[in-house]
Amino acid sequence: GVIYEMKGLDNLERKLEKALKIKKAIIVSGNCDEDELALKDMGKTTAMYLRNIINDNQIIGITGGSTMAYVAEGMPDEKKKEGIVVIPARGGLGERVETQANIIAAKLAYKLGGSYKLLHMPDNIKQDDLKVMIKNPEIKEIIDMIKKIDILVFGMGRADVMARRRNLKEETINELLSRGAVAEAFGHYFDMKGNIVGEATTVGLSLADFNGIENVIGVGGGEGKAEAIISICSLKSNLVLITDEGAGRRILNLV
Ligand code: F6P
Repeated sequence: GVIYEMKGLDNLERKLEKALKIKKAIIVSGNCDEDELALKDMGKTTAMYLRNIINDNQIIGITGGSTMAYVAEGMPDEKKKEGIVVIPARGGLGERVETQANIIAAKLAYKLGGSYKLLHMPDNIKQDDLKVMIKNPEIKEIIDMIKKIDILVFGMGRADVMARRRNLKEETINELLSRGAVAEAFGHYFDMKGNIVGEATTVGLSLADFNGIENVIGVGGGEGKAEAIISICSLKSNLVLITDEGAGRRILNLV
């Protein structure tokens, strides 16, 4: 029955925290790879967790992707705190409009009764153009705010899946994979041990910024993301992971 099941997941959560050496694991039932309901549930669960930890006048950073889109979707439309600002954590990463960090940040801000700032940057920008753009006062304002994020909510993906979704050249993809890339988060590609093996040319959150943020909520589910989740969790011990049963069980088989 339901109670037994809840206890089962509770047990799985504690095992996962131990295995991944992280602050907290929250697991929703199901497997996102097979069931979109699990993805929706993960989004809602993340939204409720976030809602409970927000304080007045905080800056919330969020990334793009379908999981984050469901976080904004799952947030109740009811103001809770004063002076909340929501910002995208990174510049454009080649996502479809609905799953871009800018759109998600704006939607989340609206739901929370706060304000938002957007980062207007084209995707796959050249290094030289990037140097010019970061001097633009409006872009600089957001880049400075990103350094002050109080709570970060971010999605994580498989390196191969994300590299393809971003239409990287086959040659670049192969190079990333030969360097052992298994995970992608906030525009960085990581190997199994959490070493950076590649980075998208855009602005925003760096790994150093990430390491300095007190409240970090990483969200990703589906059995297929198990390796990616292990990699990302090795980055930070005070991370809160929100995942699903499919990924959770697979991770425990791997570590
Ligand atoms: O591209 C933004 C991003 O947050 C990536 O950093 C991450 O790997 C991916 O989206 C996750 O996407 P999804 O939730 O659709 O699997």
